[in-house]
Amino acid sequence: MAAPTTAVLILAAGRGTRMRSQWPKVLHAAGGRSMLASVLAAVQAADVAPPDTAGVASKGTVGVAPKDTAGVAAKDTAVVAGFGLDQIAAALQGSGVSVLRQEPQLGTGHAVQSAQSWWQAYDQLVVLHGDMPLLSPATVQGLIARRQESAAAAVLATASPSEPRAYGRILRDPKAPERVLAIVEEKQATPEQRQIRELNAGFYAFATAPLAQALAQLGTDNPHGEYYLTDTIAILARQGQAVVGYALSDERECLGVNDRAELAQLDRDLRRRKVEQLLQSGVTVQLPDTVVVDAGVEVGPDTVLEPGVQLLGATRIGSNCHIRSYSILTDCELGDHVLVRPHCVMESARVEDGALLGPFTRLREGAHIGPGAHIGNFVEVKKSKVGAGAKANHLAYLGDASIGAKANIGAGTITCNYDGVHKHPTQIGAGAFIGSNSTLVAPIEIGPGAYIAAGSVVTESVPADALALGRARQTTKPGWAAKRRQRKP
Ligand code: UD1
Ligand code: CA
Repeated sequence: MAAPTTAVLILAAGRGTRMRSQWPKVLHAAGGRSMLASVLAAVQAADVAPPDTAGVASKGTVGVAPKDTAGVAAKDTAVVAGFGLDQIAAALQGSGVSVLRQEPQLGTGHAVQSAQSWWQAYDQLVVLHGDMPLLSPATVQGLIARRQESAAAAVLATASPSEPRAYGRILRDPKAPERVLAIVEEKQATPEQRQIRELNAGFYAFATAPLAQALAQLGTDNPHGEYYLTDTIAILARQGQAVVGYALSDERECLGVNDRAELAQLDRDLRRRKVEQLLQSGVTVQLPDTVVVDAGVEVGPDTVLEPGVQLLGATRIGSNCHIRSYSILTDCELGDHVLVRPHCVMESARVEDGALLGPFTRLREGAHIGPGAHIGNFVEVKKSKVGAGAKANHLAYLGDASIGAKANIGAGTITCNYDGVHKHPTQIGAGAFIGSNSTLVAPIEIGPGAYIAAGSVVTESVPADALALGRARQTTKPGWAAKRRQRKP
């Protein structure tokens, strides 16, 4: 028999008023990516048994395409949006995840119901909240597996945290405690029910047929006048359908975000989790609480991260590198044995093995630093390739340049790449020596092995192995200064 088909619906239509933002809540970032991206990452990383790949659909053809990767496919995943729908759709552009409109927003039950035409052809539906970024792949996997094994109409994730929270309380059958009878929202709970420590986390797996029936019976008899998804549990239980719990192994997964303070808290949690992973994989991290590493970053073993380092975006760092304090790397790729001294700021740059940077180096988009090259303090590099073993140790601007192996770029060298209208390239051959304070007016080519005298303004290309001087000849007047001092003021 074919395995049941699974769809995942992420609720994200709520306004999130307490964020005081023009952005929908789920697009706020924690741990270096939006909360919605974290939830989607958990869905995509869940190791879900793929539907039988023979191609035999149990219902229509939805969700039975063969797949070679684990995780729920993007096409079987949708986000319910309302407030800020366009921003959410833009963020998900090209991901394959559907965005469904809920307008107006009449509660979590209404959100699921408004997406019914999308999910009703699947066998089971996982419902998640887009503002709960600590959700793990294991939980998504566990909910789906529990639903399949138990054949229950609904499985809901529960948590029993030590400190109280204003969450829905889980009511169980006293005679058969494995059966869940209802979820009571905080505001409707009796004082006695409020003592219940087992809470509704907000993650569910439903069999779609009974879910559709239960949704049709929802009312709005509650303090908010909303259609509560949580009321489907009592409806199903009353019909004699099986509803079971799935205890979260880490109760922090049920933490959501309602305001900026909670966002900051979860940001810290996610970053701690990330640094923890790095430590376990063989990276040395000094004063871990001061190091900021985004979720998508990779770091190789025996690399050392000093206090105050930030590794952001899709940065990838090899092994045995040393990233010294206060360096900020965004979307950079570093080979092995790279030394980044303090205070470097680098974006979208590539650095090959054994290169040495900083302190105070600025690498911008398209900087490509070759193996063993040295880029020193107050050197800015943009869209430039620096060859193996080349050096630019002090105070230079290298833009739209290609610099050959072992070339030496003197202090204060400027490639004048911009004429006010267009950008032009500079080529410097292997082993060339550019004297200090040279101004290279692009487009220009300095041949391999050529010398540029210090202080030159170079406007014409220089052939290989030549010497170019582009400055006024010096005049020296002996005794002039002494005579000047003897003159009457
Ligand atoms: C909900 C649960 C509660 C549970 C808690 C866990 C209900 C009625 N209650 O309460 O039992 O303990 O989550 O976090 O479900 N949303 C929509 N459309 C709407 C309303 C909400 O998409 O019309 C989305 C929100 O954007 C949010 C999610 O659903 O992502 C949860 O809604 P929220 O209002 O925060 O529910 P809670 O009060 O937290
Ligand atoms: Ca909430």
